[in-house]
Amino acid sequence: MKVLLINASPRKDGNTYVALSEAARVLQEEGFDTGFFHIGSQPVRGCAACGACARDNNLRCAFDDDITNRLIEAAQTADAFIFGTPTYFGQPNGALLAVLQRALYAARPVFAFKPVASVVVARRGGATAALQTMNMPFQMCNMPVATSQYWNIVYGAAKGEARLDAEGLQTMRTMAHNLAWLMRSLAAEPHYDIDSEPHQRTNFIR
Ligand SMILES: Cc1cc2nc3c(=O)[nH]c(=O)nc-3n(C[C@H](O)[C@H](O)[C@H](O)COP(=O)(O)O)c2cc1C
Repeated sequence: MKVLLINASPRKDGNTYVALSEAARVLQEEGFDTGFFHIGSQPVRGCAACGACARDNNLRCAFDDDITNRLIEAAQTADAFIFGTPTYFGQPNGALLAVLQRALYAARPVFAFKPVASVVVARRGGATAALQTMNMPFQMCNMPVATSQYWNIVYGAAKGEARLDAEGLQTMRTMAHNLAWLMRSLAAEPHYDIDSEPHQRTNFIR
């Protein structure tokens, strides 16, 4: 089984990478394959609400000019995900949010029922708000969210400083063990039939 680790920092080898690497090391020790996906620093677009993905129902975003469809493709072969992001103004990296919203809207079945963990890195403040924002889409896409002994937060400002956050790195290791446990448990019960009840959609304004 494979865990895809998404690094949403434009600093490829920065503190987000340090936090994700600690989790990846534990997962490898537990016998899982791991792979990294870097959001990078190239431009990405937000969802245009064009509805083409719903119309075409092809698990792709109609706009193929950035990494969104590459993330969907990488997700197809993953059994679980860890999304890591730096805190920017008390929020996750905006590029990650833009890509994630489009990927989930176009290809929700690729992600549904696969365990996920969010990881947030910060210099000082706003990390819990960013973590909550990260988990919001997963909680409405039938994705079991892996937790830890504390919130999944690692502190550091300059590149590599996160290596000094002993408690944060321990939180990463515990999260990775919990994610591994979740994956093994779900693999033992693979035939969960959730489509038995049609999806109710009641908008507030009629
Ligand atoms: C645009 C920008 C906004 C930031 N906002 C915050 C913030 O709100 N709170 C905080 O603690 N750190 C903030 N930081 C600092 C980063 O979260 C911190 O340096 C983090 O370690 C960067 O992770 P990286 O090395 O993976 O890029 C900000 C950094 C940038 C570039």
